[in-house]
Amino acid sequence: MPLEVIVGAQWGDEGKGRIVDLMSAGADYVARYNGGDNAGHTVTVGDRTFALHLVPSGILHPQITCVLGNGMVVHPGTLLEEIDSLREAGVEVTPGRLRVSHAAHVITPAHRALDQAEERARGAQEIGTTGRGIGPAYTDKAARHGLRMEALRGPDESFRKAVRAHVATVNRGLERLYDAEPLDADAIVSEYAEYARRLAPYVADTAGLLSEALDSGRRVLAEGAQGTLLDLDHGTYPYVTSSHPTAPGALLGLGLGLRPVERVVGVTKAFQTRVGAGPFPTEVDGEVALRLRGTGENPWDEFGTTTGRPRRVGWLDLVLLRYAVRVNGLTELALTKLDVLSGLDPIQLCVAYRAGEEVHPQLPYGPAELAPYEAVYETLPGWEADLTSIRRWEELPEAARAFVRRVAELAGTPVRFASVGPEREQVVTAP
Ligand code: IMP
Repeated sequence: MPLEVIVGAQWGDEGKGRIVDLMSAGADYVARYNGGDNAGHTVTVGDRTFALHLVPSGILHPQITCVLGNGMVVHPGTLLEEIDSLREAGVEVTPGRLRVSHAAHVITPAHRALDQAEERARGAQEIGTTGRGIGPAYTDKAARHGLRMEALRGPDESFRKAVRAHVATVNRGLERLYDAEPLDADAIVSEYAEYARRLAPYVADTAGLLSEALDSGRRVLAEGAQGTLLDLDHGTYPYVTSSHPTAPGALLGLGLGLRPVERVVGVTKAFQTRVGAGPFPTEVDGEVALRLRGTGENPWDEFGTTTGRPRRVGWLDLVLLRYAVRVNGLTELALTKLDVLSGLDPIQLCVAYRAGEEVHPQLPYGPAELAPYEAVYETLPGWEADLTSIRRWEELPEAARAFVRRVAELAGTPVRFASVGPEREQVVTAP
């Protein structure tokens, strides 16, 4: 009953989608356990390329059933758009292949309006949220008055009443606290009744489904969105998201116990990126930043899939990676975008933090307090060669292999895969 958990080891955007894609061969289920349409990855089907925010890219493998777990917050309009575009591209998306937990929470336009109003009110202290209503939807969940997907199964009078009451409550906040325009409750009620009609067949007890699947020996991949450093409890609070991207979040967010966990794969880029505000000790600008970020012309350049914002970039931070190994219990690492380092010489690895005279190889006080630290670097020789056509470990330049070995050594965790380009086959398996 193998459960394999795939988590982002950084601030999100590590390229988890493609590692999930790689590990999907031979899997039966891909189950997403946290977040909502704040996440995003680009998929290519034939000659069409589009962004998926909710549906796991496992949907492109015909043998896989995809699950949106109870730990998620689902915007029904986004989900339906994704179902429609996948179908237009010829991908079979049926209630048999896509199951949404009855206990996942529903995002409404009121959550989005509140998210945006709260951000404006934070002014210089803004978090840089994606504005997708994620925080307010989880706030309602914790306050025990959220709308759950199960309500969409029978869009009856009580559902309409619940949506209307929710919009009325948010409207009071928007008007009184944020001086913002109220929303039209009737329009939202009709919109959501239509979503409910279309989505009801997809709603299921996914925890029961996954646990039966595991009991009968099926292979389940649990896919996290965002990354360890954006975890509500274990990330760089308050510059975090409102869910639990860390590996334990997979169990809570899918309704599974500890027993089936077999592997925990942490995905990290060969460098560091961050969107939104908050401290970033290895951040760089200038020529190196331009090289790491790319121009924005390619889908894999460092610009947000959801918001289009240029990402902040920097050298790989091993202090934070060791932390990710610890809080997730990582059994292995997948290193993405190794090819992007080609032509950068030397390459820096942050191996410790310095504050005044003190040097800390480990985080002295969790990741929320990064501002006082300066990165201490180890310098490694770079390589010139383009790696994108390399498929075998032995063919990598010695400097690239030394870089991967050093990352594994400093993280105390083996690196299983290194990706050298955006295509499915552009991966090197490390020995
Ligand atoms: P929220 O999740 O929209 O509330 O945003 C909170 C923080 O998480 C912001 O800094 C966002 O930029 C960041 N964030 C949310 N989703 C992602 C993601 O998928 N990748 C990277 N950063 C994200």
